[in-house]
Amino acid sequence: MNNGSEIINIVTIGHVDHGKSTLIGRMLYDSGAISEERLKDAKDAAKKLGKEKIDFAFFMDTFEEEREGGITIDIMHTPFKGKKNEYMFIDCPGHREFIKNMITGASHADAALLLVSAKNGEGIQNQTKEHLWLSKILGIDQIIVVINKMDTVGYSKEVYEKISNEVMNLLKKMGYNVNDVPFIPISAIEGDNVYKKSENMKWYDGVALIDVMDSKIKPNRKPLDTPLRIIVQDIYDVDRKKIIVGRVETGVVNVGDKLIFMPSGIKCNLISIKTIGCESKRAEAGDSIGMLLDGIENNGKFLIKRGEVASHLDNITNVAKGFISQIYVMQPLDLHVGDIVDIRCGTTAAACKIEKIINIIDPRSGSVIDKNKKYVSQGEAANIKFISEKPIPIEKHSKIPQLGKFVIVHDNITKACGIVIDAGGAGNIKLNS
Ligand code: GTP
Ligand code: MG
Repeated sequence: MNNGSEIINIVTIGHVDHGKSTLIGRMLYDSGAISEERLKDAKDAAKKLGKEKIDFAFFMDTFEEEREGGITIDIMHTPFKGKKNEYMFIDCPGHREFIKNMITGASHADAALLLVSAKNGEGIQNQTKEHLWLSKILGIDQIIVVINKMDTVGYSKEVYEKISNEVMNLLKKMGYNVNDVPFIPISAIEGDNVYKKSENMKWYDGVALIDVMDSKIKPNRKPLDTPLRIIVQDIYDVDRKKIIVGRVETGVVNVGDKLIFMPSGIKCNLISIKTIGCESKRAEAGDSIGMLLDGIENNGKFLIKRGEVASHLDNITNVAKGFISQIYVMQPLDLHVGDIVDIRCGTTAAACKIEKIINIIDPRSGSVIDKNKKYVSQGEAANIKFISEKPIPIEKHSKIPQLGKFVIVHDNITKACGIVIDAGGAGNIKLNS
């Protein structure tokens, strides 16, 4: 039923040019994953550009604009076999303009690898903070910090300690438990402490990055202990029976269970579960299933629609018209109090009014910067109260993250993303028993 994959998705984050693509390229190279042919390509490309050494970012930045500009534009997925675990590196762009791509990449990650450059004592920069804040709201709680470009500061322990302390303070401010966060001084270009422990930093008593990854990072556990939520994607007529097709987002469901669909409030029994080509007695988070149910028709009327969410009766999906959220505006768009926006959450689309902008947040620090502003613009984050045109199934992100995040779509473009801080009270519908 599930693909049982134990591949760990690890996203590289950090300011533009701090060495994210170079680090992955170096890791692949040192582990022997780069073929002779690709190596020759990289050597030829370096020669053409008059460079002495190969550019490891070349293995990640595959588009011409990226290679020529020395900048990552789109996310790139690269499988990588560590000494122990298997990974999928998600290489993200650092440049502000491509933050939407960074969010897309980070939303599938189990862990983040934060790069901070030591070159010229640079340390924390705007996108260091912004990426960390976004990773935090996206729910990534496993982080490894690498202080990169140590070769440019003579492998200085003092520079490393100064920058690591600054990063540690930033992490604390953002609510990370810094005792669990490994810090490693590296040089991606020279390969120090990447795949092999470096001789150049004898003062560092830890292990190389790959060994830290192999020992500390775990794939996110499937949310099996979370209450059951199945999002309805489609309804098919098969042999005059209705098959409800959906994805189990959280929890576990068994044949014979009593379910309730929201917002319709329809209660029914689960007669059978179908997966691709077979019948099953049980399904769990991550599975896409077809369900045969009884009790879903009322006086010949069929009430379940796409976007409804099924749960067990003892923990029913929250339905709300009013909800409070934290949003981040990724694309050029001003959102004003009173505007109606198109919100997509799960398979639900709803027109929602911006009832109140509670405050504006600086995404580089997470702190409140304005309590009176009546609109929120690109690059800003805000706490906002929305009122939906209709009751929608939506949960607090802290309780069920899978149903607690949404995007705002405008002119067919995803302009902002958000998480639900609170979705109780106002607009909740009452159920008939
Ligand atoms: P974006 O994807 O555009 O955000 O950049 P990035 O973080 O992927 O940086 P990239 O790997 O493209 O490296 C930027 C520049 O820094 C390149 O010129 C690299 O050669 C250089 N660089 C990366 N790592 C190191 C390092 O450890 N030491 C030195 N000296 N230079 C490095
Ligand atoms: Mg890059």
